[in-house]
Amino acid sequence: MTTASLTAPAALQADADWWRQAAVYQIYPRSFADGNGDGIGDLRGIISRVPYLQQLGVDAVWLSPFYPSALADGGYDVDDYRDVDPKIGTLAEFDEMVAALHGAGIRLIVDVVPNHSSDRHEWFQEALASPKGSNARERYIFRDGRGENGELPPADWTSIFSGPAWTRVPDGQWYLHSFATEQPDFNWKHPEVHEDFLRTLAFWSDRGVDGFRIDVAHGLAKDLPAELPSTAELKEMPKDGSHPLWDRDDVHEIYAEWRELFNRYDPPRIAVAEAWVETPERRAKYASPEGLGQAFNFDLMEADFAAEHFRDIVTDNLAQSAVTGSSTTWVFSNHDGIRHATRYGLPPREGRPVKQGAAWVAAGGPEDGIDRELGLRRARAATLFELALPGSAYLYQGEELGLHEVAEIPDEQRQDPAFWRTTAEDRGFDGLGRDGCRVPLPWTRSGSSFGFGEGGAHLPQPAWFADFSVEAEDGAAGSTLELYRSALRLRSELQGAETLEWDEELSGGDVLAFARPGGWLSVTNFGAEPVALPEGEVLLASSPLESADDGGLLLPGATTAWVQRSA
Ligand code: GLC
Ligand code: CA
Repeated sequence: MTTASLTAPAALQADADWWRQAAVYQIYPRSFADGNGDGIGDLRGIISRVPYLQQLGVDAVWLSPFYPSALADGGYDVDDYRDVDPKIGTLAEFDEMVAALHGAGIRLIVDVVPNHSSDRHEWFQEALASPKGSNARERYIFRDGRGENGELPPADWTSIFSGPAWTRVPDGQWYLHSFATEQPDFNWKHPEVHEDFLRTLAFWSDRGVDGFRIDVAHGLAKDLPAELPSTAELKEMPKDGSHPLWDRDDVHEIYAEWRELFNRYDPPRIAVAEAWVETPERRAKYASPEGLGQAFNFDLMEADFAAEHFRDIVTDNLAQSAVTGSSTTWVFSNHDGIRHATRYGLPPREGRPVKQGAAWVAAGGPEDGIDRELGLRRARAATLFELALPGSAYLYQGEELGLHEVAEIPDEQRQDPAFWRTTAEDRGFDGLGRDGCRVPLPWTRSGSSFGFGEGGAHLPQPAWFADFSVEAEDGAAGSTLELYRSALRLRSELQGAETLEWDEELSGGDVLAFARPGGWLSVTNFGAEPVALPEGEVLLASSPLESADDGGLLLPGATTAWVQRSA
């Protein structure tokens, strides 16, 4: 292959540990920037915004799926793992993007979706055209139905997006899809599935990709008995590695194969697992150096804005990463969640039946149900807290602008299968779905799509996007964008050994303070009343500080400050 991007610039090549404490920026490609004005974000758009990413100061980009797809699940339904969706670009443009990112000192992680393909994948099409019991069907999970004529699904299972998890094909058999109907699950007992994914991982690694984000990493290995258990029975089964569907111990045999491939590259390719598992101990297996190497923890994403929660989460996760030798990961927002500026402006949930914020979105996003200012203020404090922690910080496009979740999307314009597969009555965890965090970014104050592209936007942008646009925030003192830029720049200067020490003198009640090597102190006030700030040079604060009567500084409520003390 002849691509300039095969060899990364020397500065990028040198460090095999680059991922350990990287600030990674997630791009949801269809909603980032539209280069050709057709309303859909694309690789051209990303290339044109590389200077923006460089100025923001991130170490890497994680690109959500950009593969050919009918978008039954926003691209997580992949037709072809080794190509670019023509709606998004070409392989040549992909190479150009890698070169541009690398040239700007930014690594690239791409999303891999190995639990399921799309129903348009050539293998699934072949399976449909092939008889029962054929090799083509064996690559997926086909079963005969129950009932006299096989008219009942093989089991009563529900998909993660609601609705049945089995769909019948014309000759009467049924296939398993843990997600949407258009996402048939692979059978990872089939050697060709193994071979094909190794081919895919090598394909992108050879093109200069630095790493992979592994979608539904806990789902690949399955062991289905001839007599399938019912949903009720599945629920009773322990998730200790022996469950027939989720987080099986043998899934790690797959990742051991992948690790062997990753380590053939210099520097080794990295991977981060999206693994929803029962305990932190089980998550650690995905993060082992013999496996994927790193795993997301979504604990902060699920936590209320409260000092004791944050402290427990940090303590637990640092302890876990010490066991595996991996580094920790921190996430407040991503393409599946409700943006954290919004979550933190809502009253805390009672019990946790649904995702935080889902009920507010479902109610149409009423202004009297949210304190937007407080939400953003807390979100900025949370981000500064995150960026001072050891480990990797995964940031989601638009959070650097302080964007809120967009609630005002008419039903008929929604795209998420998590919305379309449910009815108002059985709307579960995701509420109205995940479109509200996937609305195309506002780059300018005005224009048909706020500078997203020359044309429209594939999801409607609200009028308030104008004030949150890059144009509005660029160079504006105190803007969220400038806060992120300053924080990321300082972080890369200050980041040292992966240790943290709680400052017990300052911590307590609503205050959480920790020191990093070199005298870098992060203090967060989770409460409402100002507290005294310790002496030292204030490097950055998420909101303006106040003066105390004695001439010292006060840290107001919902604010984080970074203070440099003598080392
Ligand atoms: C992961 C992705 C989500 C997708 C699902 C199915 O959870 O993050 O967006 O819908 O997997 O691929
Ligand atoms: Ca486009």
